[in-house]
Amino acid sequence: MRVMVIGSGGREFAIGRVLKQDPAVTKLYFAPGNGATTMLGENVSIKDYGELAQFALDNAIDLTIVGPEGPLSEGVVDVFKAKNLVIFGPSKAAAQLEGSKVYMKNFLAKNGIPTARYLETDHIGDAFKFIESLTPPVVVKADGLCAGKGVIIAMSHEEAKVAVSEMLSGKAFGDAGKRVVIEEFLDGYELSMFALCDGKDFILLPAAQDHKRLLDNDEGPNTGGMGAYAPTPLVDDVIYEKVKDRIVRPTLKGMQEEGAPFEGVLFIGLMIVNGEPITLEFNVRFGDPECEILMPLLKTPASELFYKAATKQLDTLNVEFHDKFAVGVVMASRDYPYSNSEPAEIVVDEIHHSEIAENAHIAYAGVSAEDGKLYATGGRVLVCVGVGESIKEARDRAYMLCGQVHYAGKKLRTDIAYQALR
Ligand SMILES: Nc1ncnc2c1ncn2[C@@H]1O[C@H](COP(=O)(O)OP(=O)(O)O)[C@@H](O)[C@H]1O
Ligand SMILES: [Mg+2]
Repeated sequence: MRVMVIGSGGREFAIGRVLKQDPAVTKLYFAPGNGATTMLGENVSIKDYGELAQFALDNAIDLTIVGPEGPLSEGVVDVFKAKNLVIFGPSKAAAQLEGSKVYMKNFLAKNGIPTARYLETDHIGDAFKFIESLTPPVVVKADGLCAGKGVIIAMSHEEAKVAVSEMLSGKAFGDAGKRVVIEEFLDGYELSMFALCDGKDFILLPAAQDHKRLLDNDEGPNTGGMGAYAPTPLVDDVIYEKVKDRIVRPTLKGMQEEGAPFEGVLFIGLMIVNGEPITLEFNVRFGDPECEILMPLLKTPASELFYKAATKQLDTLNVEFHDKFAVGVVMASRDYPYSNSEPAEIVVDEIHHSEIAENAHIAYAGVSAEDGKLYATGGRVLVCVGVGESIKEARDRAYMLCGQVHYAGKKLRTDIAYQALR
């Protein structure tokens, strides 16, 4: 099977890595990939989706997998399907579940899927009235994609009103903020679940917890994610069943009724409140770094899983996961998340210890290659992933590997998976 992965981050490296290990995969492309995906396959620099689809036809690519939300919201899946290509990801219409919080909340409400009580509006008077009716904290969300910055947890009515005013006026997020969702604050613990969907059937992956804040003890600014682990012991079978029955099944049914069957990865942001899973939001692709820790737990060959998901055959698949844990520690560049840093050469010590060599690996993200050397080029540079029989063992292996990786300005949290080890 010849496979192409669209994207350039650690998430796409991780998907490529398990495909590379799969004997059924004979050729692997990344579009555009990064400085390290060339270790796994060939990078393709075509940006236009029509041209990329033509490239897939010309090169007899059997399956394309889309990593990031950008190309999905821009309709890359529709372009490929119009040429009868097999591609795994949601259509532009289905990607609205992530692209518009108003669309998502109204969809949840219409289908009776548990979510925080809310108002969606573009009218400031209605917004203020609803804010007054809630007990702070009050949550204010811009409708559109805001690169993870569009949600304000306001500690007072006043602060919530300021946030709403700045969004509705276009001052805060431009057009993305001209409609808002205001909702009640949910007090619980947060986790993410991922359902691989083929429009009608799905496979729920082990639940993960990520670490959004830059610094230890969940301090500092929000980031794209500084680490993750799975499966989390905070979830038992009862919660998995509730998520399937109350969230995933009604979502698949509802999206069919919308005429936009959901194919792809449904990322469910959950708050568990008194044992009840409540939907915070949907994304329409894998989380990054969650993907980096979920892929190594997959026992079923990746090509089979993604191909069947992309061709409506998940009902014929008996998917298996290793009975293990994975922990991923993100290593970022010096000025992350504020600005890009100077490129810095990455040196990875030769790994002699077989325990690390066999049970830990690197998923590369923000790197470029030059003259056979790898350079950290800003943002999140790479993820050290450890796998083990326990979360502690997996974490220790991930951190042992972190100690072998060097570049100027390397930055990482030292407490990944602490929630599970308390
Ligand atoms: N109703 C809510 N109650 C409590 N916390 C919330 C609520 N909605 C969002 N949050 C917090 O804000 C974060 C971002 O919100 P989310 O809806 O996931 O938007 P996005 O990821 O698009 O920025 C969540 O991860 C969660 O920590
Ligand atoms: Mg989120």
